[in-house]
Amino acid sequence: IPGPTPRDMATGFWSIRADPLSYLAATRERYGDRVAFPIPGPPALLLSDPDDVRRVLQTSARTWGKDTVQYAALGRVTGPGLLASSEPSWIDHRRLAAPAFHHQRLDRVGVHVAEATDEALARWDVPSPYGATVDVARLTLGVALDVVGRALFSADLSDQAHRLLEATSAAARLVVRLGRGIVPVPERIPTPLNRRLVRTRRELDTLCLQLIATRRATGVGGDGAGGDDLLGLLVDSGLSDQEIRDELVTMVIAGHETVAAALTWSLMLLAQDQDAQDRLRAEALAHIGPVPMVGTAQRLPWTRAVVDEALRLYPPAWVISRRSHQPDVLSGHDVPAGTTAIISPWLLHRRADAWPEPDAFRPERFLDRSAARSDYLPFGAGPRLCIGREFALGEMTIVLGRLLTAYRIGLPRDWSPPVPQALIAVHPRGGMPLHVTPLGGR
Ligand code: HEM
Repeated sequence: IPGPTPRDMATGFWSIRADPLSYLAATRERYGDRVAFPIPGPPALLLSDPDDVRRVLQTSARTWGKDTVQYAALGRVTGPGLLASSEPSWIDHRRLAAPAFHHQRLDRVGVHVAEATDEALARWDVPSPYGATVDVARLTLGVALDVVGRALFSADLSDQAHRLLEATSAAARLVVRLGRGIVPVPERIPTPLNRRLVRTRRELDTLCLQLIATRRATGVGGDGAGGDDLLGLLVDSGLSDQEIRDELVTMVIAGHETVAAALTWSLMLLAQDQDAQDRLRAEALAHIGPVPMVGTAQRLPWTRAVVDEALRLYPPAWVISRRSHQPDVLSGHDVPAGTTAIISPWLLHRRADAWPEPDAFRPERFLDRSAARSDYLPFGAGPRLCIGREFALGEMTIVLGRLLTAYRIGLPRDWSPPVPQALIAVHPRGGMPLHVTPLGGR
């Protein structure tokens, strides 16, 4: 399998760290769909062939676990929660959390999404009728954090819950720094980063354990037991306090930056394409009844196509990694146990052979849903598929509909597209200033 030489890697070291997206794209361009990185020990492969990706994530998923550098960094903050866990007990936790994402509950989350969006927009102080240039990335991050907070703690959205949301959001930045370490420094060595990690974890532990204890003691909520939100569900599930803590931190980290980033890029794409924006607005205005969280593809097909296309061009989860527990065969190549597979939706979604004009924003590609695509994986694939997929798609549909029926979004003068920056999700470096104009009455 071809790949860069150790010398290439050494000279490219800073570009790998500074701009991993460009590095991955250049590497695939140069070496093809199966690239071996020259590291000591079992190989690390960058896989962009849809057949290999399907094998690793789906058909051979039992062979490929999550004990990778990426998930080890995340796990140092979340503990072995659903996203980072490579333990067999993952499946039990997934079953316990699943009811929180059932359709009936999600429809109730839709009410939270609408409220969180309207409250955030009410705080948006945009002068009428000329509008102003506003960093929409700040709005989307605030809304997404608020939504996840309401879904987790709606039965008792206390100050403590707010503090936990803020602390976890800050901890996500720490995960990125931990993931950038070439060799993880053991925690007992008090580097500044390790000290910060220990402090952050202690703070998250204290806040979570207090919230859990309060909930166990009071059983706040409408169902007479642990409460009618995700915290209530977890409290009633029989998980230990530590396990609940790990799932809470996981849900906040997994569930807000990703949605916020996807919304931000969607708004940029819609600011560049006023026809697509008008069509979305018209669909939102014509829709009767509460905007749905589930079944969005049937009920608001254009909005959903916009969301899907934005997730294709700017997949928040830009890299997915796995490690093989046993030898496997990928497209005729033997790979030994211990091999790391690096899969990048960012690369897969821009393959010119799969997507005509891959860099163009064309939501209509997603209007025909007859063909399932294995080269489109914003939410991953196989047994570890994102549990929050419907949640995120519904949330994005509602936020875009409400925002764009109240405001027109355009490009500021002298605008140039922001550079995508690969953090936990792909964010625009320096935010996303766009021109917003109130439309007057919804
Ligand atoms: C897993 C992406 C929103 C919770 C994943 C995975 C991806 C992903 C790619 C699979 C990772 C892998 O296979 O290694 C996204 C994107 C989102 C989003 C792009 C938004 C646009 C959410 C939301 C929540 C959530 C809203 C929760 C409220 C999770 C969890 C997992 C997961 C818990 C782990 C599932 C498991 O392994 O069983 N997500 N996600 N995500 N996501 Fe999401």
